[in-house]
Amino acid sequence: MSSIDRRDFLKGGAGAAMALSGISPNILMGQDDRTVRIGIIGVGGRGRSLLRLLLRRGDTVVNAICDINPEAIQRSVDMINEAGAATPTQYLNGDEDFRNLVQRDDLDAVIIATPWLWHTDMAVAGMKAGKAVGVEVPAAVTIQGCWDLVNTSEQTGIPCMIMENVCYRRDVMTVLNMVRQGLFGELIHCQGGYQHDLRGIKFQPGAEFGPGARGEAVWRTHHSITRNGELYPTHGMGPISKCLNINTGNRFETLTSTATKARGLHNYVKAEGGEDHPNADIRFKLGDVVTTVIKCANGETIMLSHDTNLPRPYSLNFRVQGTKGIWMSDNRSVYLEGVSPEPHQWEPFSNYSEQYDHPLWKRHTAESEGAGHGGMDFFVVHAFVESVKRQIPPPIDVYEAASWSVISPLSERSIATGSSPMHFPDFTRGEWSRRVSSFAHTDEY
Ligand SMILES: NC(=O)c1ccc[n+]([C@@H]2O[C@H](COP(=O)([O-])OP(=O)(O)OC[C@H]3O[C@@H](n4cnc5c(N)ncnc54)[C@H](O)[C@@H]3O)[C@@H](O)[C@H]2O)c1
Repeated sequence: MSSIDRRDFLKGGAGAAMALSGISPNILMGQDDRTVRIGIIGVGGRGRSLLRLLLRRGDTVVNAICDINPEAIQRSVDMINEAGAATPTQYLNGDEDFRNLVQRDDLDAVIIATPWLWHTDMAVAGMKAGKAVGVEVPAAVTIQGCWDLVNTSEQTGIPCMIMENVCYRRDVMTVLNMVRQGLFGELIHCQGGYQHDLRGIKFQPGAEFGPGARGEAVWRTHHSITRNGELYPTHGMGPISKCLNINTGNRFETLTSTATKARGLHNYVKAEGGEDHPNADIRFKLGDVVTTVIKCANGETIMLSHDTNLPRPYSLNFRVQGTKGIWMSDNRSVYLEGVSPEPHQWEPFSNYSEQYDHPLWKRHTAESEGAGHGGMDFFVVHAFVESVKRQIPPPIDVYEAASWSVISPLSERSIATGSSPMHFPDFTRGEWSRRVSSFAHTDEY
């Protein structure tokens, strides 16, 4: 195993300069055979699914893992040993033990898959210790947290990638390919969201949640009690942001959010735990459906929907609409004026999916088989590992981590002030109009 010399990167070499300028990495170095040494902080459900993907690769080694839950640690150690790899060093000495993990000198990168409130502190600690950071979504939950990520990355020269896997969903990448080839004309409006009935995740059987529960019921439910806003914006926003070149020629300017009343979680507690269950007294703050509208500098609008408390089938609510046509994910349909067979009639997306399948997917279909979320998880891990290995900026960078994550606190403020407009910070400090996208311009990563 050989390690990666990060000095050039840290001290403003080509990679670091490009990380800050947004110059495309595609002109950079070719593939190499170095091993990327990774530590994982948070090996719950998501951390272990990322671990599984790392163990399938031949170019990564997981030297350290950290969690406050011994069972999660043990399950991860078992996975690693079953894959024939050496037992990693384990950090399970409480909430702050991650600070010891990031100091190790046998790690190139850390992946963070902990509850949301930890992400920023852990990412900042990782960058300050010189480790490339891959952080789960969202990367921060406050405006200051978003700035902390950007400032730390700029000051240290260390990249921070938000691990937004939906950017790599196959249909989403096909549509991005169609957007880039101009099939939809000039883009005008996009939609996305997180429409996922999480009631069975926010509560265990018997309507329990909080300390002592399992998985996300331990921590996620609490956000629905204390916050009202677009709490999980990045799965919807990631792909849209790539279509609209946010931070690479375009930017979010303002946002308004509006929430419905909150009924779903209360009704669920009563149905699952009974009318007299103590949790039936809780007043959930999170509106059942939160609608957010964003205006972009180049004149487009984006509508996001957060909808996690009501019975409904899963949907990310995607829509891309331009001067020449429209794609909608829910009905898997496309309409292109002058191209679609019948005026005013949808045609199936399958008429386009093969022809415009993204080159990245064409190249890596076999490797992505069996990876989580229909294969897209392979691509986000692949992109992170390749960016560390090649010492190039990640294709989803700290400016995106901040711009997408800041939607939550801005949306909370908007709702709290009668849906008033909120202005987005410009995390690129004016560079957005000059920066160049490095996302998925090749078939490599
Ligand atoms: N991209 C995706 O598709 C996707 C899917 C699921 C979850 N996620 C995200 O991944 C993150 C984790 O979600 P999850 O479903 O794995 O939750 P989880 O509760 O199953 O796992 C979180 C783990 O973090 C550990 N933890 C808590 N505090 C810690 C600390 N201070 N130090 C170390 N470990 C700590 C917990 O013990 C737990 O094992 C969340 O941000 C979630 O939004 C993303």
